[in-house]
Amino acid sequence: MANVAVIGSQWGDEGKGKIVDWLSSRADVVVRFQGGHNAGHTLVIDGITYKLHLLPSGIVRRSKLSVIGNGVVIDPWALQKEIETIRAQGVEVNPQKLVISESATLILPVHPMLDEAMERARGNDPIGTTKRGIGPAYEDKIARRGVRVCDLRDPESLKGKLEKMMFHHNALLRGFGEKEVSVDEIHAQLMEVAPEILQYAGVVWRVLDEARKAGKKILFEGAQGMMLDVDHGTYPFVTSSNMHAAQAATGSGMGPDAVGFVLGITKAYTTRVGSGPFPTELEDADGQRLGEQGHEFGTTTGRKRRCGWFDAALVRQTVTISGITGIALTKIDVLDGFKTIKICIGYELDGKQIDYIPASSAEQARLKPVYEEFEGWDGTTNGAKSWAELPAQAVKYVKRIEELIGCPVTLLSTSPERDDTILMQDPFHA
Ligand code: IMP
Repeated sequence: MANVAVIGSQWGDEGKGKIVDWLSSRADVVVRFQGGHNAGHTLVIDGITYKLHLLPSGIVRRSKLSVIGNGVVIDPWALQKEIETIRAQGVEVNPQKLVISESATLILPVHPMLDEAMERARGNDPIGTTKRGIGPAYEDKIARRGVRVCDLRDPESLKGKLEKMMFHHNALLRGFGEKEVSVDEIHAQLMEVAPEILQYAGVVWRVLDEARKAGKKILFEGAQGMMLDVDHGTYPFVTSSNMHAAQAATGSGMGPDAVGFVLGITKAYTTRVGSGPFPTELEDADGQRLGEQGHEFGTTTGRKRRCGWFDAALVRQTVTISGITGIALTKIDVLDGFKTIKICIGYELDGKQIDYIPASSAEQARLKPVYEEFEGWDGTTNGAKSWAELPAQAVKYVKRIEELIGCPVTLLSTSPERDDTILMQDPFHA
């Protein structure tokens, strides 16, 4: 029995919520392995809408185990609030249903302050972060001054850790001309929230090993998308974690062979939130129309998403780098009614043709897309549940995407509704 890792193949917001929800109904364990509450997954189950940022999607279902792995950065107050919100919606959350890695790094109140201050310091060239403190918390983790879930158990040594951390950050805050933060204040705030978090703290690698040995199906729920990966994305306009499928193993404490089928969630066009290069971006009526028909507003920050044509060269690259086994193509219905649809098949860079996104952000900004034009379709794909219900031209579009990215479409989503899905292969039984 294969496990499944779900990752975004573009810049995030590919429509993972619906697919993850569908897969989590088949899984026994759902694991978050990177990122934090910068993510936003919307689930609609039996007419009730759940907005999740940090909690794995399995949480809304009875008898599923939800796991937050060591690779995630956790804002304990945001987590507490999210738990309260879904409890108010009738969802049970208890230590039998939710386990949080003891070694996950915490986002403290100083991290969003630093996130804001650093964005301001970038002047006209901001990253456009979600300002949730994600980057500064990962910086602390890598710099080995992070505070982790297990530290909440020992108030005395926690104080020493905070003193070392704040010695560094207060120097930085002074430099930015910001108010310093008191160690005692953060310590008191942490002590207040500690019991809530610690009740879920556990040895995640062992919990997952036991689940695996018992033949349980594990779903690894990625957030963001490969083009925001700190190693493989459009650096520096990226987030601070790895979205790569291998991170499902590293960020949860399992071997790489545990990851199984890698499902790359891929939108039938392209969107991006925040700044940075975007070769197929449309700043015309077509872009406007994609945004309106696709309801392209961020779940976490409400920001308008930038929209553009499907970039096959980009997805071919992320499929190759992250070892995507099959893709789930989403939001094809948003292309209904377009007379002409374009697919980017490569780029022109300073007069030369290239078929990949180079590493330099200056070069990325100079890429000019090379398009293949595609005739749109009459009729609608919206709500189709089988290939036979799709307009012939829409089937051709999907087939062409498969050819260009060198990867099969495992699943096609034709509307936000859960049942409006065409399944070619069940990833858990691949
Ligand atoms: P950060 O993760 O808040 O540091 O933001 C870094 C970049 O990643 C910004 O461009 C954000 O807009 C983007 N980003 C972070 N999380 C998401 C997400 O869940 N979907 C799409 N973009 C995201």
